[in-house]
Amino acid sequence: MLNKLARKMKSDPVEQTLPDQDAPVPAHIAIIMDGNGRWAKQRGLPRIAGHREGMNVIRTIVRSANKIGVDTLTLYAFSTENWKRPKTEVDFLMRLPERFLSMELPVLMEENVIVRITGSKERLPEYTRRAVEEAVTKTADNTGLILNFALNYGARNEIMEAFEHIYEDVEKGHLRKEDISESVVSDYLMTNGLTEPDLLIRTSGEIRLSNFMLWQLAYSEFWFTEVLWPDFKEQHLLEAVQSYQNRQRRYGGV
Ligand code: IPE
Ligand code: IPE
Ligand code: MG
Repeated sequence: MLNKLARKMKSDPVEQTLPDQDAPVPAHIAIIMDGNGRWAKQRGLPRIAGHREGMNVIRTIVRSANKIGVDTLTLYAFSTENWKRPKTEVDFLMRLPERFLSMELPVLMEENVIVRITGSKERLPEYTRRAVEEAVTKTADNTGLILNFALNYGARNEIMEAFEHIYEDVEKGHLRKEDISESVVSDYLMTNGLTEPDLLIRTSGEIRLSNFMLWQLAYSEFWFTEVLWPDFKEQHLLEAVQSYQNRQRRYGGV
């Protein structure tokens, strides 16, 4: 079945469709875009070349997700742990939102995409913050796909901050302890207002979460691939969605 699909998918990117048009499409897909460094290394290139190539993949995947009817696409772009990397690499990564958005913002507007950022803005350089804030403001009135970048995001940091804010609100009398529910906790997370991912994709063969959306992924379906992010194509996204369509989500029931 997948081979047949793969053969069918030699055509242009974003021209491909799902074989079963009636099966449910995941409303929210989250992707841990991993393997840029290894992609570059395989070619004898510096790691930043992998990040540049990885950025170019985003355009295709956004269009494809939009076309198949995904509501929210979350892309893990930079983790709270990625600051540990060499300064030159971090600097390059921090320039990427500006580069990506200066090229893509007109297209995103045309495609009615809403840009959103999940993560802490505190440590971001001014030019990174400005670029993402501009994109968020300009696309705020769009009504299509939500393109949510997890930037300087870490789930433990997110949950810790939620604890702090809940505690503060209880202390100030804005929230009663007995009213704290799972849904209230969700509202205090950085993903407040977004649905939980239905499908999580991680590229590059790593089978771990790396501090990504620990709360929100509680009942998500996972799909892992050996494909490195710069090599990720529309066909892989559709393969993941097709795999999702063959799953049975039970949420603890029967
Ligand atoms: C993912 O690719 C991009 C970011 C983490 C920003 P990596 O840079 O982690 O690539 P590998 O894992 O070293 O190949
Ligand atoms: C996770 O990838 C973060 C992003 C893709 C942005 P990493 O490459 O940083 O994860 P580890 O270090 O291999 O767990
Ligand atoms: Mg990695």
